[in-house]
Amino acid sequence: MTAGDQDREPIAFDPSDPELARCPQRRYAALHAEGSSHRLALAGSPVISRYEDALWALRHPEVFSSELDIQLALGTERPMIPQQIDPPRQTRFRKILDPLFSRKRMLEIEPDLRSHAAALIDGFVGAGSCEFNRAFAIPYPCITFLRLMGLPREDLDLFLEMKDGIIRPPTPAGDLEAAALHRAQAGKRIYAYFETAIEARRSDPRDDVISDLLRANINEEPLTHNEMLDICFLFLLGGLDTVTATLGCSMLYLAGNPQQRRKLVASPGLIPEAVEELLRWETPVTGVPRLIKRNVRLGGVEFSEGDLVLILLGAANVDEAEFPEAARVDFERERKRHLAFGSGPHRCLGSHLARLELRVALEELHRRIPDYGVEPGKSPLVSPGIREVTYLPLVWDEGGRAAPGN
Ligand code: HEM
Repeated sequence: MTAGDQDREPIAFDPSDPELARCPQRRYAALHAEGSSHRLALAGSPVISRYEDALWALRHPEVFSSELDIQLALGTERPMIPQQIDPPRQTRFRKILDPLFSRKRMLEIEPDLRSHAAALIDGFVGAGSCEFNRAFAIPYPCITFLRLMGLPREDLDLFLEMKDGIIRPPTPAGDLEAAALHRAQAGKRIYAYFETAIEARRSDPRDDVISDLLRANINEEPLTHNEMLDICFLFLLGGLDTVTATLGCSMLYLAGNPQQRRKLVASPGLIPEAVEELLRWETPVTGVPRLIKRNVRLGGVEFSEGDLVLILLGAANVDEAEFPEAARVDFERERKRHLAFGSGPHRCLGSHLARLELRVALEELHRRIPDYGVEPGKSPLVSPGIREVTYLPLVWDEGGRAAPGN
């Protein structure tokens, strides 16, 4: 950062603050109102908050690198592929992976997804209430993922346990050493699990993504065993909580905004637009980190080689310069090139899958339970970082109408 910037008071912006997680949009607007797009935040790290600057940073990996030295903190033994690798090496992996997650391929699993969603809803619709995160938002993406990877549905609980062992280790708050140890152990279990799954398909290839990875090659060069493991590890970490969090944030918004919800019930054709607008407004993956590879000036500010920066996707998505009336949630908004899936070479591999999961879930939920609300007297909880609604008590009556008080 420039000397001028360092002289300024850091803005109070703590990504681990639960209040910020609950309602970050006002704080993002305050960042923008401060003028410069780059601000000193927690621990003196710069953040990039303007849409235009975030887009530039995401599209220039030669300056804003994804090769951070954080693998140990996440329980991995090597960088996760392709997220923690820069182009041109990363490009080879995307050439292999993009066709496996194309829009066309994802649409093929829509009927399966719909029946998974319907079965989960069957489990709680008659009760007139549910804790949405546990009842739907957590299991639904996990069941989808098991189906895609060709893994047994009975592994659902094991999968959730392995993922949570990395993302939210059950260790005392603030005990970083214990958390790192727990993550390392969880990481070993994840490698071992996928080792077995890959080996089983070497002799018995099937119609699933793991078998596709075994068949894949670019220029006669197949993936190595470790490369496959490093890809599967990332799928597990990147493909489940993100969808859970987006579903929770979307349902919390719709529970509190009945006029908007009624629009979707009256015109289900609007749901794909609502999915996009809620991704923009809620941006559950609030930011992505990058390491500065060479000194650069962006948005009028110098960044120095070695700086660790946070590209604040959530703030970029409410930038008035890109989204007029950014604070208005408008399902029919014209400009909706949001950054909730990132941009540039690392743009989310699973965006077609995620969009399909979200659309099908919102269609099935609103068809069966058109009117619902947050249980009176209860307060939903939203976690910092990835904005998962960890506690979302919803109520409705047996006809799918909101209970009195909503
Ligand atoms: C609504 C749900 C989702 C959101 C909001 C989301 C968000 C993101 C974002 C912001 C990035 C960019 C990371 C960066 O630039 O460092 C990303 C990358 C990625 N996502 Fe997603 N994601 C979602 C669902 C999924 C799913 C279902 C999968 C399953 C395969 C997935 C797999 C990946 C992978 C593999 C990458 C790394 C791509 C690369 O580095 O080339 N994501 N995601």
